[in-house]
Amino acid sequence: MGKSLDALDVAIVLAAGEGTRMKSKTPKVLHFISGKAIIDHVLSQVIKLNPGELRVVVGAGREAVESHVKQVAPKAIPVFQAERNGTGHAVQLALADLKVSGTVLICAGDTPLLRSETLAQFIAAHNEAKNTVSVLTAEFPDPTGYGRILRNEAGEIVAIVEERDASDEIKAIDEINTGVYLFDIESLRSSVTKLKSNNSQGELYLTDVIADIKATGGKAAAILSNDYSETLGINDRSQLAECAAIMRDRINYEHLLNGVEIIDPTTTWIDSSVKIEADATIFPESWLAGTTTIGANSIIGPRTTLMNVTVSTGASIIESNCVDCEVGSGAKVGPYSYLRAGTKLGAGAKAGAYVEIKNSTIGEGTKVPHLSYVGDAEIGSGSNIGAATVFVNYDGVEKHKTKIGNEVRIGSDTMLVAPVSIGDGAYTAAGSVITDNVPAGAMGVARSKQRNILGWVLRKRSGTKSAQAAKAAGASESSE
Ligand code: UD1
Ligand code: MG
Repeated sequence: MGKSLDALDVAIVLAAGEGTRMKSKTPKVLHFISGKAIIDHVLSQVIKLNPGELRVVVGAGREAVESHVKQVAPKAIPVFQAERNGTGHAVQLALADLKVSGTVLICAGDTPLLRSETLAQFIAAHNEAKNTVSVLTAEFPDPTGYGRILRNEAGEIVAIVEERDASDEIKAIDEINTGVYLFDIESLRSSVTKLKSNNSQGELYLTDVIADIKATGGKAAAILSNDYSETLGINDRSQLAECAAIMRDRINYEHLLNGVEIIDPTTTWIDSSVKIEADATIFPESWLAGTTTIGANSIIGPRTTLMNVTVSTGASIIESNCVDCEVGSGAKVGPYSYLRAGTKLGAGAKAGAYVEIKNSTIGEGTKVPHLSYVGDAEIGSGSNIGAATVFVNYDGVEKHKTKIGNEVRIGSDTMLVAPVSIGDGAYTAAGSVITDNVPAGAMGVARSKQRNILGWVLRKRSGTKSAQAAKAAGASESSE
C-alpha cells in the first residue's frame, strides 16, 4: 500500500444499467444495504480517494438515480447514457467533454463492498508500475457470468473475454475482471473510440480497449486483489442479500473491536451510519438504523428497532420500537413499547411495558410504567403516570397539549382530555376523566360516586357459581 494517497484526477462510476434481474421498479443502484443505497457505498469509498472530478453515468431510472446522487455526492457530475450500448459506450460518453488528463478510475455502481483502502492500494500499484491501464482482478470460487482474465506465458494480461464469448477452456479460468480499472486518460480516450460491437451482445465492451492499448505501445497489467468478496457485484436479490450480510458482518466486526458487546452478530443489523460507544450491549434480533447513537453501558434488545434514536449512557431498551426520539441516561424502555417521533425521555425516566409515546417530553425520573398512551405532553420530573392512563390529545379534528408538573401522581386509568394541565404535586383519582385543569397540590376526581346494590347476584343470578360463592360468604337476598 502507498504511504500517502496517490492522486486521482477523475473517477467514473458506471450506473446506467437496467438491473433487470432485480425485478424491481426501483433502479438497481438505489436498493439499500446497511441503511444506504448500493451506489452510496461505492460513491463514499470513491470520494475518500479525493478524485479531482467525479462522473456518474446514469440511464435506467435516470431521474431517481440522478437526484439521489445529487444528495449524497453533490459534486458528482451526472452523464446521461440514453441507450445502453455497453460499458465502452458509457465511458465514451463520460469522456466526451472531459478536459482533464492524467489518471481515471472506472468502477461499477453495483459493487458496494469495495473499500477505499483496496482502491488506494490498486492506485499505488498502478502508479508504481507506470501502467497505461490496470485491471483489478479477483479469483472467484464460482466465476460464472464474469469476464475472464487471459494472461500470456509471462503472466501479462492479454485480453478480457466475456462469459458469453468464452470457450469452455476460457470459462475454466477463475480469475475474473472486477470491473474496476485505472487508465491513462489520453490512451483511454484514443482506444475507446475504436471499439467495435462485434460480440455476442452487440455492445461496445470497455474491456476490449486493453488489446488496443497494448497494440499501441501502452503497458497493461492485471492486479489481483486478495479479498474476492469485496468485488462481488449485485445483479439480483439473492446477491443483494449476500452482500448485505457481508456488510452487516463487517460493520458488526468493527463495533466488536471497538468494545461493543454484540451477543449474536448474525441477527444484529446496524446501519453504517450508527454510532455506538464501548461497553454498550446489543442483544439478538435488533436493528439499529439511521442517525442512531448509543451511549456506553446501555442495553439494547433483544428484538429492538431504533431508527434515528439518541440513547444516552446506561439506558436500557428491551423488545421495543423507537423512531426519531431521545432516551436519557439510565432511562428504561420496554418490554413491548413504541416511542414515536418527538419523544424525549429524561434521565432515569421510564416508559415501561406496552407504552406508546409521541411528541412528548418526559421529565427526569418520571415513570410511565404500564399500558399507557402519552401524546403531545410535557411532563415534569419525578411524576408517576398510573397504569392505563390515556392522554386524550385528539378531539377528532385537532391535536391538543397536556402539561403535567413535577412530582405529580396520575391515578391508574385516568383520561387526560387535552388541552389540560396538572399542577406540581397534584394527584388524580384512578378512573377519572380529567377535562379541567388540576391546580398544584389538589386531588382531581372526575367519576361518579360508587353505590353497591346489596343481594343483587342472589336475586338476579340465582343458581350461578357466583351466587353460590356469595351465599357461602354469608350474603343474603335482601337489598338492605
Ligand atoms: C462487466 C464486464 C465484465 C466484468 C463484470 C464485473 C464488460 C464488457 N464486462 O460485465 O468483464 O467481469 O462487469 O462485474 O464491461 N453499464 C452502463 N452502461 C451500459 C452497460 C453497463 O452504465 O451500457 C454499467 C452498469 O450499470 C454496471 C456496469 O456498467 O454498473 C457493468 O455493467 P454490467 O452489464 O453489469 O456488466 P457485466 O455484464 O456484468
Ligand atoms: Mg452486460
